[in-house]
This record gives sequence, structure tokens and C-alpha cells, in this order.
Amino acid sequence: MRISEFGHAEGSFGLGFGLRLPPMCGIVGYVGSQSALDVVMAGLKRLEYRGYDSAGVAVLADGGLAAAKKAGKLINLEKELVDRPLPTGTTGIGHTRWATHGGPTDANAHPHLDNAGRVAVVHNGIIENFAALRAELEERGHALASETDTEVVAHLLAEEFSSCADPAEAMRLVCRRLEGAFTLVAVHADEPDVVVGARRNSPLVVGVGEGEAFLASDVAAFIAHTRSAIELGQDQVVELRRDSVTVTGFDGRPADVRSYHIDWDASAAEKGGYDYFMLKEIAEQPKAVADTLLGRIDDSGSLTLDEVRISAAELREVDKVVIIACGTAFHAGLIAKYAIEHWTRIPCEVELASEFRYRDPILDPRTLVIAISQSGETMDTLMALRHAREQGSKVLAICNTNGSTIPRESDAVLYTHAGPEVAVASTKAFLTQLVACYLVALYLGQVRGTKWGDEIDAVIRDLSQISGEVERVLETMEPVRALARTLASKNTVLFLGRHVGYPVALEGALKLKELAYMHAEGFAAGELKHGPIALIEEDLPVVVVVPSPRGRSVLHDKIVSNIQEIRARGARTIVIAEEGDETVVPYADHLIRIPATPTLLQPLVATVPLQVFACELATARGNEVDQPRNLAKSVTVE
Ligand code: AGP
Repeated sequence: MRISEFGHAEGSFGLGFGLRLPPMCGIVGYVGSQSALDVVMAGLKRLEYRGYDSAGVAVLADGGLAAAKKAGKLINLEKELVDRPLPTGTTGIGHTRWATHGGPTDANAHPHLDNAGRVAVVHNGIIENFAALRAELEERGHALASETDTEVVAHLLAEEFSSCADPAEAMRLVCRRLEGAFTLVAVHADEPDVVVGARRNSPLVVGVGEGEAFLASDVAAFIAHTRSAIELGQDQVVELRRDSVTVTGFDGRPADVRSYHIDWDASAAEKGGYDYFMLKEIAEQPKAVADTLLGRIDDSGSLTLDEVRISAAELREVDKVVIIACGTAFHAGLIAKYAIEHWTRIPCEVELASEFRYRDPILDPRTLVIAISQSGETMDTLMALRHAREQGSKVLAICNTNGSTIPRESDAVLYTHAGPEVAVASTKAFLTQLVACYLVALYLGQVRGTKWGDEIDAVIRDLSQISGEVERVLETMEPVRALARTLASKNTVLFLGRHVGYPVALEGALKLKELAYMHAEGFAAGELKHGPIALIEEDLPVVVVVPSPRGRSVLHDKIVSNIQEIRARGARTIVIAEEGDETVVPYADHLIRIPATPTLLQPLVATVPLQVFACELATARGNEVDQPRNLAKSVTVE
């Protein structure tokens, strides 16, 4: 079969010019006393949210190895397994694959086997030198049947195993030859009680049970069996047996690993009665906000961010903050900038992680870099923080995923406590990122003396009310859902905001893009007259996030003028404004009320209607809400 002319590898989809869609592969490995097929298939179902379009399993049994794989959803594989059952075994691996350039075919589905059918391997990531390796193998007589990069690993493992007869050593030897980012899990029929795995950049976690062990790309795959986990680090190989887990570097030296307890309940990763994970996660926001505040304020009212392992003395030396993130996390960073500069008077830059290291940023040991990431695996953000650390800057991660790569490679971490966020469109993670950013800003103010205790107390009191305010907003969303349904046939929606309302407008636009597949754009309202007002036409929906009118806010007066300007040109104005703000009423075709909050905290309540709006509009359009087309929950390639 022809290899992709782009030379694209497993896990990426070539769109030419190097633009790649992210891999969304799910991996499960098991060794123990249960039916490996049952455990692996159940685990793959838990990983379906990652998006995929083929799946496969391999089981060791009766001295041999048996595999089944099918294009399409798991239901196709289940049918295959009914028609052609696999033998019962207690060791096995499985995989859900996102189409590569080779397309979602049975042949390209994982696992991939060597020619003798003694080795099976599954993979997430990109093996960038696979073409050269494939050529070598074919010269040595190997026959490769697929268009993927993964298949070369099966053949290389078979070669190495034939001389070392040790699956873990064979994996180490092969990994030392691979270039790129990869997570590999493999089995060999000669070792029926062993599963081996390897990790470079793409996520892989170990689950440790009683007389059984698991490997997975996400704890959701094995949380029903055990909550004891081990995080694997960069360039590590793990050997799993029923009662032992052995981790080394690619060089064979024993590796230090950290065990941790997964505090997410299995049910937390389920939909909880909602039609979509996204609806469940929107509804969980009050709790997520409250949980993220928990334990961060001591009895005296001051902040104790004990996971921030950067000393107060070092924080007092900081003379610049740089926030790096992508997508929704970037919008959280934009809002954080207002709080950090207002409360600490430290200059704060916010950078798209994918642009950051290519602009040759000016960094030094007095620059505090804050990396915001829900998944902790976003490659753009990971590479940006590595660049920052090479320049001598301290990095603080704000992350929702315990044990993921970004916090592990940072100097300090402040975990958000949103719980598992399964829907690709980020909602509760965003609100908790804001809370975490406010806490960091207050903490900087506290250690640097720019925020007195009573001022911090006042903000903390406001923050502790927010959970209830978000709850109140959620109780009044039916008119927003009804409005969204009336706009399902529209092609464009614009979003306007000022001050912290501007990043909220950007976030509202991103939600609509990624869920309703609709053109949406956020603007700073003050920019309208510099061009975008030319877009305004009859009945064009424009969402406007209005700042508080309290305190004779000049921002409020200006944005009311903006609403008048667009309405005069025919726009359909959808106004998000504080309870009691009567000024906007004459100019609002649709008025969405939010509770009065301090200016800097308003994004915590103003964003929620935009999440609901986008979700409902996507539903009205018949779109897949939790797994929007072309998107991944964790973008683990650049
Ligand atoms: C947001 O709805 C998107 N899913 C996406 O923009 C996401 O925020 C971005 O990819 C960053 O992901 P991270 O927070 O896991 O790093």
C-alpha cells in the first residue's frame, strides 16, 4: 500500500503545509485474573469521548496471540468479536484510533502485529522516522500491511525480542530508535503475563490493582477497577505483571515514579443523566468553582497555595509575568492579566503558546511564566514552558489533570478541582482556571505586600459567593436556550465586550465556532469603529457583554453607545447585563441578566450564558456536542 505522500504518521492527519489535526487515540492494557477482553473493551468505551473511527484488541491465550480490529465505532468491533470470538485470556491490549492520512480502514486500525503474529502493539502519537525504519524492515524481508507508522514498531519489537527474549528490554531498544512523540503498549505471545509500555510526550498512566495492573492513555479507562495510579515520565518504559510494576528509562536505569490517588469517582466520568457531558459539566460549575477555592484560604483568611513550590522570596523578585496557553485557557489568561496587573502592579503578558517560542521572547529568572492547561498535555503549551525554563524562568502550572506532563515539568502547580472534563468544549475548566488565576494574583499581592489582608479578604469573600451566583445564572437559562434555537439558521454571530468582557466575548465566539460550526468572532467593543462595524447588517445577531453600571463606570457608558451604534445599523442585540442595569433595556432585543459582581470577577458569571447558548445552538443544528468534528480534548501534537 502507498505510504502517505506527506509522510504523515499515525495519529496525525495531513492537511498540507504541515497543518495537522491532533491524534485522539485511546489506549488500554491489562494483566490480571479477569477476562482481558472484557476489561479492555470496557476501558475503550470509557475513552470513546476522545473521538475515534476505528478500534481493535489483542489477547494473549493458549500460548498464542489473537487480535481483532475494525473500522468504525466500537459496535463494529463488538460485532466482529461475536462473529469471530477471541480465545479467553487474562492479558491484553486495546486501542481506539483517529483516522490518519491512511484513512479509517481495518488494515490501518490497531493493534498492529509482526509477520509471525507473536507481537501486538498499539500507539498514540507520531513516529517521525517511520519511513526510513519501514524501508529497513522491508529490506530485511518484513512484509508490512498498513499505511501507518505504528506497524514498524511491531516488527522492530519482534526482531529485538528474538535476541533479548525480554519484552521490556525489546521496548527500550526500539524506543531508542524512534523519533517523535509516542505512547506505545505491546504484548508478546512468549510472555503471556506481561504488558509493556513506553511514553514520550503523549500521556500514559498506570493503574495498580490487587493482583492486576492497567495501562491507559487516561485514568477513565481503569477507574472502575482501581484509583491507585502511577504517573509515567518522559522517555520511560513500564513492565506490567499481575503483582509488579517496573519502570525504567529508555536507558534501562530504574526510574523514580510518583504514585497518586485518583479522587474522581467512576460516576464522575459518566454523563450523570445529562444528554451530553458538556451539559453535565456546565451544571457542575458551581461545585467546581467552590472546590477550587477549598483549602486555599486558612483560618486567618490569608491564602495558602501550598502546591506553589516557588518561595515567597522568589515571588517578590518577579518583575514580569508571562501567561502561556491555548484556546479557552488562553482566554482565561487574558482575564488573569487584568487581575494580576491591578492587584500586583507587575507587568503581565499573555501569549498564545503556539506563537510564544518562535517570537524569541525576552525571559529571565525574574520572569514568572504561568502555563494554563486543563489537560496538562497540550503540546504547544508544553513546548512553550520548556522554552521558558531553558531561559531560566520559573514556571507555575495551572492545571486540572493530576500527574499530567505540564505540571510535572513545571516548578510549581496550582491544580484546579473541576473534576474530569470530558466534553471537548471546555466549560467548568475555564471557570476554575479563572478562580485559580485570581488566587495566584492575590497570592502574589499578598507575598509582595501590594494587597493588604483586608483587601484580600474582601476579594475572597466575593469569590466565595460566586459559586452561588453561577448557580443562580444556571437557573435562568431557558430563555437563552429558546433564543439559541431561533438562530440555528444564522451564519454568523458577533460578540462584543470591554475590559474583562472582551476575553469573555472571545470565549463566547470560540464556543460557538467549535460547537455550532458557525462563523463567530469576538471583538473589543472599542474596535468596532476601526473596521468591524462594516460587518453589521440587518438582523445580524450581536452578543454584547456589558460591564457593571455601578460606580458611574465609563466602560458601561461607552458600551451602551456601542449597542446603540450597531442597533442603528440593524443588528439584533443580545445583551448580557447585570440585574438592575436599566440603561441597556431600550437597546436590547434580547436581555440576559447576570448577578451583580465586582468588575474583575464578572467573567465567572457572564461566560455561563454563552456556554449554554453555544451548546443549545449546536444541538439545534444536530451537531455532535461532546466530540465536535476535527477537534480533540487534548491536542498532544504541535
Ligand atoms: C476549548 O473549548 C477547546 N477545547 C480548546 O481551545 C482548549 O481550551 C485548548 O486546546 C487548550 O487545552 P488545554 O487547556 O487542555 O491545554
